[in-house]
Amino acid sequence: MSIVSKLPAVGTTIFSQMSQLAAEHHAINLSQGFPDFAANPFLLQRLAKHSAEGLNQYAPMPGVPMLRSQIAALTARCYQRQVCADSEITVTSGATEALFVAIQMLVQPGDEVLLFDPAYDSYAPAIQLAGGTPVHVRLQAPDYQVDWSLVSAVMTPRTRLIIVNSPHNPTGMVFSQSDWLALQQLVLTHQLYCISDEVYEHMVFDAAQLSAHCFAALAARTVVVSSFGKTFHVTGWKLGYAIAPPSLTAEFRKIHQYVTFASFTPAQYAIADMLQQQPEQVAELGQFYQQKRDFFAAALATSRFTLLPCAGTYFQLLDYRAIAAEMTDVQFCQWLTTEHKVAAIPLSVFYQQGSADRIIRLCFAKEQHTLAQAAEILCQL
Ligand SMILES: Cc1ncc(COP(=O)(O)O)c(C=O)c1O
Repeated sequence: MSIVSKLPAVGTTIFSQMSQLAAEHHAINLSQGFPDFAANPFLLQRLAKHSAEGLNQYAPMPGVPMLRSQIAALTARCYQRQVCADSEITVTSGATEALFVAIQMLVQPGDEVLLFDPAYDSYAPAIQLAGGTPVHVRLQAPDYQVDWSLVSAVMTPRTRLIIVNSPHNPTGMVFSQSDWLALQQLVLTHQLYCISDEVYEHMVFDAAQLSAHCFAALAARTVVVSSFGKTFHVTGWKLGYAIAPPSLTAEFRKIHQYVTFASFTPAQYAIADMLQQQPEQVAELGQFYQQKRDFFAAALATSRFTLLPCAGTYFQLLDYRAIAAEMTDVQFCQWLTTEHKVAAIPLSVFYQQGSADRIIRLCFAKEQHTLAQAAEILCQL
């Protein structure tokens, strides 16, 4: 028996492939984006407490009220935007679920959706499942700035949605105030909707931490997506949230309730406690990752790699042209993992049409000794 695939072009992701290769070759795994250090002990203790005390049944569909009111307070603290915990915030099973639900909500068959390559890999399949067409606009190394005139040029009467991601995975590019204003203008002029994927929002170093939340006219047509997995070093908890105006949130919840209905209950309480009792943890995250980035960059200073600018996220791009220009980035990553025991991700996989650049992505959300060990190997190449 065979079925017609709805995603014929999708296979095993490069992330799974590289992690498997890293495990087989006992390589230091800087490929996938997750921390190798423990989460805050208070957070872990609160999870255990809430679970032991019996908070293990279905949470309310939009999320635990206490967590939603802490999210509203966080949004006010970070971006001076007041949002209603009851009608504008929905807790989801990771940012991944929020992105999927938002795309299903906003995309009708035949709609075109703008996204920027290199792009996070879950956007295009979700658009295709909704019957839409992804329209990819390429960003160029080394700084991956958006050329907004190019974006205007690819608009058609079918364009309905634009997906942005700042700070940007995989490049570390962060939108400036003028980028946000250009986006807002585009959205208003063409009556678009926007999904703003801001999962790395608290990891910003060399730029101001801005958000779609800071631009009222844009926010009125946007679903902003955030991730507690990224912010609290617990990617495996798969807890995130979406903030959108009440009319969008009402539609969002209609789909969310039939995708997961509700998200992991004791973790919602634990994160609410954390936000209430240790709010400085979020505020200090940027500095925490800036130290890691600076340490890693300094450790690579004598290598033959060229480091690309990284204003946010926990990813560092490296150009390896001076080491092995003849290898594609996929070949280079395989060689690096099997021969030198450091696993990385080739940048070309984030492009619909591939890329001839010689650039790889490394994740620096790792213990200092892991980064030092990896840098020592990379400096010998
Ligand atoms: C840009 C981007 N968006 C969304 C996600 C998914 O976040 P979550 O783990 O909360 O589902 C990731 C995870 O790597 C990401 O890099």
